[in-house]
Amino acid sequence: MLNKNILIGVTGGIAAYKVVEVASRLKKMGANVRVMMTRNATEFVSPRTFREITDNAVSVEMFGDAANFHVAHIGLATFADLILIAPATANFIAKAAHGLADDLLTTTIVASDKPLMIVPAMNTKMFDNPATQENLKILKSRGAMILEPASGELACGTVGKGRLPEPEDICAVVEKFFTSKKLSGKKILVTAGGTVEAIDPVRYIGNRSSGRMGYEIARAAVNEGAEVILISGKSELPAPQNLKFVKVESATEMRETVLKEFDSVDAVIMSAAVADYRVKNPAVQKIKKSAETLTLELVKNPDILRELGTLKKSQVLVGFAAETQNVLQYAEKKLVEKNLDFIVANDVTAEGAGFNVPTNIASIIWRNGNVENFAKMDKSKLAEKITDRVAELFKARS
Ligand code: CTP
Repeated sequence: MLNKNILIGVTGGIAAYKVVEVASRLKKMGANVRVMMTRNATEFVSPRTFREITDNAVSVEMFGDAANFHVAHIGLATFADLILIAPATANFIAKAAHGLADDLLTTTIVASDKPLMIVPAMNTKMFDNPATQENLKILKSRGAMILEPASGELACGTVGKGRLPEPEDICAVVEKFFTSKKLSGKKILVTAGGTVEAIDPVRYIGNRSSGRMGYEIARAAVNEGAEVILISGKSELPAPQNLKFVKVESATEMRETVLKEFDSVDAVIMSAAVADYRVKNPAVQKIKKSAETLTLELVKNPDILRELGTLKKSQVLVGFAAETQNVLQYAEKKLVEKNLDFIVANDVTAEGAGFNVPTNIASIIWRNGNVENFAKMDKSKLAEKITDRVAELFKARS
């Protein structure tokens, strides 16, 4: 924590008073703490309190200081190694999710690409409101870390979820963010989404992959401190933050992009659904409808992962096996044939697994025959398991 720059954004909730304690603890832990507040927040705690605690000026007004007003938000965003918003009101969460920038705090968020940690605190009904939940989902999908509110008696007199977690718990999460980076110094290439193989300029052959599993893996690796390259085929998901993002279409293009990076990376996690075949001669012009039947001649695509298996030096190689039957048996065959370190196998037809659902039911199969079977879990959680295993392999080899 020593000399880490933490920018705390305080928004207008009653729990703002608890954040004085958060700022104080972080400072005692060795961090440089700066505070920005919304005008509403100053109704609960005086900026002077934070100034005394942090030994730093507190920023509230966008146009307060005539000499610096046009750079204040950029300066604050540049300062931060981490931006911690506590308490985060429903109003702030909504504004941040939609890119609104109508005061210093929200403008700083829009002007920043720094890691963002949000600690919501509000009345239970406001927290459970579908709008708030949707907005939190949007922020999470863009890489923000969201702390779960605690349950208990709320300032409004009701009992339920919505309390700001205790200052020591918030500080513990912040400390973990800075200290337990299992993949620091490692460069990891992740592929995701489905490849698209052209039939003509209008049509293509595609598959049902949403890209979600790979995007979550990329995000988990970033959170563990890795330098990440995400090479994505077709996916509707927004690109996660703080990584190099490359969009590709066909398997051929994905292969070229992966090979360009391969020598410089420490691990490849191939979660992309690469098409096994492509159209031999895609039409240059749109194919017009005439005959009753149309035959497309397909040729085999290169198997990217198999090629990496022959090229690999010290890289960790992880594959996926999306199966509809004989899951473990087929997956084990791929593990050996493609020269992988481990393979993540799943039955894509099982309920709660496979394409376009937020959860997965997977097994990890190792070279020594060990199999880890996981219960149904969020793809984000499974992503953490996978990046954890990669980190363990690095550690075992060092
Ligand atoms: N893969 C690849 N290049 C291909 C096909 C697959 O790199 N042309 C990778 C996938 O990203 C995945 C692993 O190989 O990590 C297994 O993919 P999968 O589609 O399950 O198996 P295939 O090897 O294509 O075999 P099959 O389709 O016959 O099951």
